[in-house]
Amino acid sequence: MTFTADALAGRVAFITGGASGIGFGIAKAFAACGARLTLASRNIEKLTAAKQELEAMGAEVLVVQTDVRSPEAVQNAVQQTLEKFGQLDVMIANAAGNFVVPAEEMSANAWKVVIDIDLNGTFFCAQAAFDALSKSEFGGRFIAISTTRALEGWPGCAHAGAAKAGIMSLCRTLANEWGDRGIRCNTIAPGAIGDTEGVKRIYEDQGVANRQLASIPLGELGKTKDIANAAVFLCSDAGSYITGADIVVDGGRNRTHSGTGYPGKRD
Ligand code: HXC
Repeated sequence: MTFTADALAGRVAFITGGASGIGFGIAKAFAACGARLTLASRNIEKLTAAKQELEAMGAEVLVVQTDVRSPEAVQNAVQQTLEKFGQLDVMIANAAGNFVVPAEEMSANAWKVVIDIDLNGTFFCAQAAFDALSKSEFGGRFIAISTTRALEGWPGCAHAGAAKAGIMSLCRTLANEWGDRGIRCNTIAPGAIGDTEGVKRIYEDQGVANRQLASIPLGELGKTKDIANAAVFLCSDAGSYITGADIVVDGGRNRTHSGTGYPGKRD
């Protein structure tokens, strides 16, 4: 146990993409710290399996099949959360789509679909949660997932890099606008997290996993648990004076200069 079992006691947290990968890692850590949970994602089978695992840990869980590209769907899921739990204290906008394609070959729809899921979806989650978060007795928390690649440039993922840069800007604006409502707004920037679909698609399937590993000063890929620990900290009382921050959890990858790991034409 990294945190005490009551670190998030009394809180209700809503996690998009919460049935797999980093989102599910956050869900398990939150359950272990006493939070009640809503998981929202597109895949009902994954949601059902995640709910069972979390309930076996003793957590109370609502799942709502939701596509974050629809503001109405997100509002509906938040409404269902309020009907079941009576409150919402934490919104984690984690759902994301991404794939590797050179910018010059990227179709207009490929660009749009990632911007829609990552950037627009994050905004819809923030807006849908605002009212409830402003009423949280713990001080509301809004967390979105960024990446240091957003500011470094992300060859092969122009759409996701641009979306994540937009998310970082959005959260800094929200930290300003919503500070007087007690809502803390932060981003977490994961590095290469080994037990995720993202690393499989972006690095392993592209044959650049070893190059990624070589660029990490701590010498190993991260784990979903590492990102979950940052999220628990930010959402606990211990994180109450943090807003407008980007918490980098990448084993030091962003401090090295060994390239992005993209199998580019000039490599
Ligand atoms: C080129 C692609 C493509 C690919 C999709 N498209 N995959 N183009 N290469 N590999 C194009 C399609 O041709 C289409 O354009 C457009 O994108 C929309 O594709 P659809 O499949 O119709 O969209 P949809 O069904 O909504 O699927 C969304 C998706 C999908 C993002 C495209 O891949 C997805 O949901 N993936 C799972 C989520 C995921 O990847 N999560 C991990 C995120 S990791 P046209 O022009 O043909 O209509 C992350 C950080 C990674 O974000 C960090 C790494 C360390």
